[in-house]
Formats: sequence, C-alpha cells, structure tokens
Amino acid sequence: MAFQVLSALLALLILQAVGAAEDFSYDPCSPLGPSYWGGSCATGEQQSPISIKPSNIQKTNLGGLQKDYTKSHAVLLNAGHEIMVNWTTSPGHLTIDGKVYHLQQCHWHSPSEHELYGKRYPLELHMVHISSASEIAVIGVLYEFRGYSDPFLNKLKNGLNDLKSKNSVNLGYIEPPKIGEGEPYFRYSGSLTTPPCSQPVTWTVMTKVQNVTEEQVKSLRAPVGHKDNARPVQPINGRTVYLSKPYQKQEEGHPSS
Ligand SMILES: *[C@@H]1O[C@H](CO)[C@@H](O)[C@H](O)[C@H]1NC(C)=O
Ligand SMILES: *[C@@H]1O[C@H](CO)[C@@H](O)[C@H](O)[C@H]1NC(C)=O
Ligand SMILES: [Zn+2]
Repeated sequence: MAFQVLSALLALLILQAVGAAEDFSYDPCSPLGPSYWGGSCATGEQQSPISIKPSNIQKTNLGGLQKDYTKSHAVLLNAGHEIMVNWTTSPGHLTIDGKVYHLQQCHWHSPSEHELYGKRYPLELHMVHISSASEIAVIGVLYEFRGYSDPFLNKLKNGLNDLKSKNSVNLGYIEPPKIGEGEPYFRYSGSLTTPPCSQPVTWTVMTKVQNVTEEQVKSLRAPVGHKDNARPVQPINGRTVYLSKPYQKQEEGHPSS
C-alpha cells in the first residue's frame, strides 16, 4: 500500500519535472504535440493561426494602422521555443478602436503560422501588444526568400550569434521593426498561438510579405535546435477576415464591396 502511494507520488513528480522541462511540443508525433494542447487550445472557437483565403476575406476600410513607436531598452533572449526581443519598458503603442495596446515583445515563428492564399511562408514575426486591461493585440508579418535581407534582423545579427553561447543578450536601445502606416492589413479575432491559446486576441496580419534571407532564418532557428515552431492552422468557424485598404480611394457612389 505504502509502496503504491509512493510510486504514484514518484510518477507525479516525474510528470511535473517533464512538464517543466518541455511544457509543450510542436512535433505532431509527440504526446505534447499541438493536437494534445489543452485549455482554450482544445476548446476555443476562435483559435489562431488561420488560413487567410478569398472565401473568408471581406474588404473594408478600418483606417490606417495607428501606432507610435520609439527606441527603448530591450533584451534579446532564447525563450526556449522561440527567439524574442523583450523591451524593458514599452517602446510605444498601437491604437485599435480607440483602445491603446502597449508593445511588449516581438518574436519569430519558422515556418509561418498564418497561411496566406494557401501558402505557408518561411518566417513570421509577431509583435505582441497589451492594454492596461490585459487585452492582447498582435501584429503578424510574413517573410519570403527573395535574396534580400530584413533590416531589423540585420541589427540583431551579432546578438543572434551570441545566443549560441548565452540565453540572453543586452540590445541597448532599439526601435521596433518598421511597419508601414498606410499599408493594407488583415484583421480578425483569434487567440495566442501557444498554450494556453488565450482568446480573444485582436490580430493584424500585414498583407505585404517582407524580405528575409535563408541565413537570417537559420540564425533564428539555430538557438532553438533548428526546430519548427509553428502551430497548424485552426478552423475558421465562420469568422470573417477583414481586409483593410486604408488609403484606397473609393469612387463616389460606388462603395467597394
Ligand atoms: C520581459 O521583460 C519584462 C520587463 O522587464 C519582464 O517582466 C518579463 O518577465 C520579460 N519576459 C521574458 C519572457 O523574459
Ligand atoms: C525587398 O528588397 C528589395 C531590394 O531592396 C526591394 O526592392 C523590395 O521592395 C523589397 N520588398 C519588400 C516587400 O519590402
Ligand atoms: Zn507568436
């Protein structure tokens, strides 16, 4: 009897230790893989990422992205599953429907999590913003290999190299990645893409696919063991993806559909 209690306790302790070391996995064959993630990941009805395609897009005008970023002190860190730039104090904010969301950190997924018109890209950047009421808004940016580098990742080159031997690197004062004010974007209601997959998250996915080199993607993948860190796309469940073309002129009397 005492032995049974003890072995049950031991099993529990081992489970907890494993949980702490590897809380979740992106490997579809692992018992910790995406189809076994719990909480909202399993039960949420508006999960992210999604496949953005003509059948779920509705054109509209939500106005230009309202953001105000400046330089602030940040740390580059290996967060285990992904590489992150974490600002010590928020470098600025994004305003959506009059609500202010402060930028906290940005991180990368490889390959991309969102699919655009059926295509998965080699890289996706997430800029995570939080309101004073803890509401979350994320900007997603997709990248493609075209032989040109990404200027923000260029600035992190030395830091990324240092992550081979350290878990975090002081970046000093650094400005967030540049996102065009007048550029079109997709907007939909989704979730965090890592456990506990909390929802709602107000998503903005930029339509313009940016440049990145294979070497830059490799420098983000190497410190996390060259492993994929993208959640599979989730059911749309009747959600609408708004495509906002802010500065597109509309003909009078012919509102664009
Ligand atoms: C990011 O920085 C903030 C503020 O310094 C800190 O509270 C938070 O724990 C950091 N996050 C990570 C993942 O290190
Ligand atoms: C990619 O880089 C090239 C060369 O600098 C540039 O002409 C092009 O506009 C860039 N593409 C994007 C989407 O920024
Ligand atoms: Zn992310």
